[in-house]
Amino acid sequence: MCGIVGYIGTQDSKEVLLKGLEKLEYRGYDSAGIAVMGEEHVQIFKEKGRIADLRKIVDPNFFANVGIGHTRWATHGVPSQKNAHPHKSASGRFTLVHNGVIENYEGLKREYLMDVPLKSDTDTEVIVQLVEKFADSGLSVEEAFRTTLKQLKGSYAIALLDELNHDMIYVAKNKSPLLIGLGDTFNVVASDAMAMLQVTDQFVEIMDKEIVIVTQNNITIKNLDGDVIERSPYTAELDASDIEKGTYPHFMLKEIDEQPLVIRKIIQKYQNEAGELQIDPKIIDAVKGADRIYIIAAGTSYHAGLVGKQYIEKLASIPVEVHISSEFGYNMPLLSAQPLFIFISQSGETADSRAVLVQIKAMGHKALTITNVPGSTLSREADYTLLLYAGPEIAVASTKAYTAQIAVLAILAQVTAQAVGRGNDMDLLQEFGIAANAIEMLCDSKVEFEDMAREYLAITRNAFFIGRGIDYYVGLEGALKLKEISYIQAEGFAGGELKHGTIALIEDGTPVIALATQASVNLSIRGNVKEVVARGAHPCIISMKGLESEEDRFVIPAVHELLTPLVSVVPLQLFAYYAALHRDCDVDKPRNLAKSVTVE
Ligand code: F6R
Repeated sequence: MCGIVGYIGTQDSKEVLLKGLEKLEYRGYDSAGIAVMGEEHVQIFKEKGRIADLRKIVDPNFFANVGIGHTRWATHGVPSQKNAHPHKSASGRFTLVHNGVIENYEGLKREYLMDVPLKSDTDTEVIVQLVEKFADSGLSVEEAFRTTLKQLKGSYAIALLDELNHDMIYVAKNKSPLLIGLGDTFNVVASDAMAMLQVTDQFVEIMDKEIVIVTQNNITIKNLDGDVIERSPYTAELDASDIEKGTYPHFMLKEIDEQPLVIRKIIQKYQNEAGELQIDPKIIDAVKGADRIYIIAAGTSYHAGLVGKQYIEKLASIPVEVHISSEFGYNMPLLSAQPLFIFISQSGETADSRAVLVQIKAMGHKALTITNVPGSTLSREADYTLLLYAGPEIAVASTKAYTAQIAVLAILAQVTAQAVGRGNDMDLLQEFGIAANAIEMLCDSKVEFEDMAREYLAITRNAFFIGRGIDYYVGLEGALKLKEISYIQAEGFAGGELKHGTIALIEDGTPVIALATQASVNLSIRGNVKEVVARGAHPCIISMKGLESEEDRFVIPAVHELLTPLVSVVPLQLFAYYAALHRDCDVDKPRNLAKSVTVE
């Protein structure tokens, strides 16, 4: 979602800001802007659309060694130049960018700003007008900023420029991510480290309800009462090459191909010197001690959670419920006596999931976060974290993070099973190796999937994915991938459920992609395929070696039946990728979507 960058140093800030914004493009946005402090005044350049559109309107001759920038994903007010950030205060003195949502902005407008004509429809503009209001009442800028922040309810990451002071950027954070990056002759501000890896790998975290005064050579962190807080920097363990496409046409394809590597990395990270699977014993104790586990997640991570439920219940025999985070808070089920909450989130920033985390922590429950991003909000605020080690995922459509989530959930289930005395004879490490090889083989068959995508998905208006048991969950993920990047209306269904309504949608030629990787339901899912074929569907059965039949369109290599989701999802990811390409869609940056969904 929205992204922030800032630069204060000796060089011209425009290029650092624009490059930083380009690195944040993956988060999803619909307009962008920068504000740069010239000798006389702060100049804003902002535009609806892509950073490439913004670049076209930035005056190359306007030198400024201080600036802030923003990518906006519209929440309050349509995507437009008027609503794009940065926003200026009424007199033009203050300029501000903001991520997050100010819940009480209407009330603040009524209380303080009835005499100020607002120029945009955003909640953000209220913040910059309030800073000016308080500064005009005689407060120093820092006091005016802190006073404003105390009024705000909701989430924010903010960067603020004062035209009367060329040597500072004021920043603040609450519930939305923001970091300070340190350089020799400059300092930078960024929503995530990736945006500024081009100039530094030294970062300082900002905690909620803190402000930072950033100058060229110094940073001062304070709480909202003005007390100074000391904090050491850390080195970002990211490699700038991790966030480049290399020779790939799209990040999504690169990330699909990286899945075998990710599984091997996970094997390495969750193994002790004796070659046994290991997880921090504190985490295993927490899982063992739970009488019921509540998995909370959204989207693709929710789909991984459904698979994780199977693992934990089947291997460790602990009951698991999986809930959509945006529903859970309002519709909380009756909780068990000793619950453990597991938050699954690629980004670790999903606001819907965080809202649940805050709620259940207040109730005194323990939480484990499974995330790809160390130091992310969900990781910091939970009691325990398991990392995915998938490397940065840039394409909006999640692929390698999904397989990593499933792999880590399998390890968690297996180590817990051993700890509760329910060991089994599955050699998970070896099975992971087999699965990684199988994915490699699928990735080598791209041409075939490209042809299949052309045959089934190039012109269709809808598509159905069916499966039973664990295949059903993978079908849900396949449908989500397809709809989010190709805009084909796609739905996943349990094979047996079709005849209870959905089968009415089957017409001549409707693509029905069926997964058949589970021996126990192989015949039943094939029966369901026959039902749709009898009504004109164009079936595409993807089965597994050992269960195959003549009618199958593709047979994936044999893997352990619990681990089939790691492999059977790959053809579906590739279908989505090629369908989007054939339909001329922007694969890595689909419309309306954001990578990191930081608003509820
Ligand atoms: C789909 C996708 C989303 C995310 C969802 C939750 O490809 O990526 O459905 O899974 O927005 O995000 P995280 O996992 O970051 O909590």
